[in-house]
Amino acid sequence: MKKDEQEARKAYLRETEGSVASFAPGRIEFLGNHLDYNGGLVLGAAIDAGIYALATPRKGDGFRLFSESFEDAVVETGLDDFSRQDGKTSWANYCLGVLKVMQDEGMAPQTGFSLTFTTDLPVSAGLSSSAALELATALVFSQLAGQELSRKDLVRVCRKAENEFVGLPCGILDQATSAYGRKDHLVSIDCEKEDFTTLPLPPRTMIWVFDSGIKHDLVDSQYATRNQECKEALRLIRELKPSFSCLAQADENVLEKAKMPNRIRKRALHVVREQERVRLFHEGLEKKANPRELGRLLTDSHNSSSELFENSCPELDALAQSLAERDEVLGARLTGGGFGGAVLAWTTTEFKQTDADGIARSYEKRFGHCPQTHCFSPSKGASIEERGQA
Ligand code: GLA
Repeated sequence: MKKDEQEARKAYLRETEGSVASFAPGRIEFLGNHLDYNGGLVLGAAIDAGIYALATPRKGDGFRLFSESFEDAVVETGLDDFSRQDGKTSWANYCLGVLKVMQDEGMAPQTGFSLTFTTDLPVSAGLSSSAALELATALVFSQLAGQELSRKDLVRVCRKAENEFVGLPCGILDQATSAYGRKDHLVSIDCEKEDFTTLPLPPRTMIWVFDSGIKHDLVDSQYATRNQECKEALRLIRELKPSFSCLAQADENVLEKAKMPNRIRKRALHVVREQERVRLFHEGLEKKANPRELGRLLTDSHNSSSELFENSCPELDALAQSLAERDEVLGARLTGGGFGGAVLAWTTTEFKQTDADGIARSYEKRFGHCPQTHCFSPSKGASIEERGQA
């Protein structure tokens, strides 16, 4: 190595001393639509794509947030400035929210830092890049602050940041799946008890995601309206069953007896039937049931989203339908909040990229734009990473 290069490397290592790194994966909501904030049982998978964060401490209390995905939207401010960002820098609200919650709990870095994100996760595709951003941020902050953050706390802090700072009344599905992911496994989340386990996915099956390209910005979508409608359903059910603490505890008998407007009844029916589907899927996985029978539960879930919860759209319906018609597809459904975003197809290994391309082409003929297709493997959850050497 030439002398100059050696010196440059040493200077770089000096300059970046104390740097820390983390990775948090995106997630797929496998089954259990809009059940998390209703206290239900949901199944997710962390995927083999996500967000990497690298943070270098700085002197003083200034910090800088830079993301490769939003190169012209750098945020540079101080540790006591929690002004909400809007426009092109609004991506940084997820990090600011995490900083705020960790600061309130005495777990945030005491001095400034420079934080850089890179990603291989498609943004706004229903893969929860937002939760991955929160988790990657929280993991570097805890290291900078010299604090241990348990996985349970990681999930709690990040959800709180999203609920209170970003303003989306989401449940814990996204954060918990990204935190508890495991290779070839689904993450099973009891959202009422906040219990997390993992279950192996049957072998020789695959997960495909078809991103409709219809932008779903949940903060501005009807996500919060659905959350309110579910709260209203619970309020009306509790007139009969005061001991119920969440909507997922209800069943169809109770719903029949409760008085409620038709729109609220439809939302509640989706929730209680979806809960039953997740229960059956869970049980089926444990008993090693035929994946084909289990897959039907996914397709039923989509139909329920479309007809009862009304969080689908013509593009998602068309994708789910043409996928479900294929023999190699075990089940297909919209994944995540809905109102755009992506459709998930659970397939046998017979389903190939050429099949995905064919479906994408017929979608393009009908809607005028081509959906992105991805094949993901269930993967490990968020982790602290080794900082690379210069
Ligand atoms: C979004 C939210 C999750 C969950 C799903 C719907 O992804 O962030 O908390 O509510 O929608 O199941």
